[in-house]
Amino acid sequence: MLTIVDHPLAQHKLSILRDRSTPTVLFRQVLREIAFLLGSEAMRDLPLGEVEIETPLESMLAPQLDGKKLCFVSVLRAGNGVVDGLLDLVPSARVGHLGFFRDERTLQPVQYCCKLPAGLERRQVYLVDPMLATGGTAVAAAALLKEKGATRIKFICLVAAPEGVSAFSTAHPDIPVITAALDRQLNGRGYILPGLGDAGDRIFGTKDRE
Ligand code: URA
Repeated sequence: MLTIVDHPLAQHKLSILRDRSTPTVLFRQVLREIAFLLGSEAMRDLPLGEVEIETPLESMLAPQLDGKKLCFVSVLRAGNGVVDGLLDLVPSARVGHLGFFRDERTLQPVQYCCKLPAGLERRQVYLVDPMLATGGTAVAAAALLKEKGATRIKFICLVAAPEGVSAFSTAHPDIPVITAALDRQLNGRGYILPGLGDAGDRIFGTKDRE
């Protein structure tokens, strides 16, 4: 259930994102571009119907997406940077937001925001968080989506740690994971190595790099 998008463009763009010298403006732009590539892979099994159209020369039965509205769900806040790229691909998709903070005592994710479109049970849902680190938040976010009625979910991230993939696929074996890289490991603070640092800080420019 793990797909690593090894397209050369995706790998090249990921290297730009990993580089600590990449400035915020370029980070945002490239994140949007790589999200487009990850999204294309995640959506390669969308069902197609047929519609009759007229080309300038003759009529034909042309493939057309089968109507269902898609839903992108961003795990705040870093998921928003990826959703921007997915919206370039499917501008008509609905967008949901889920927010979690970590309880300092239990170390468990606690939900503080849940804003989702109606009719989740009828939608193909793409849950989006750039970093699958320990997997705690992703596991909780997917569980919440299921509780709210979603039955078809895929998880899109940029970089995954083996620990996160293991936790996520144990909790949600039915949810495919699409990523650009499976990295080596987590460090003691839960950051992915080699990773790309704090994705939220890099997208929003909220921390000066040393
Ligand atoms: N979240 C991040 O933004 N980066 C990591 O490496 C791990 C979690």
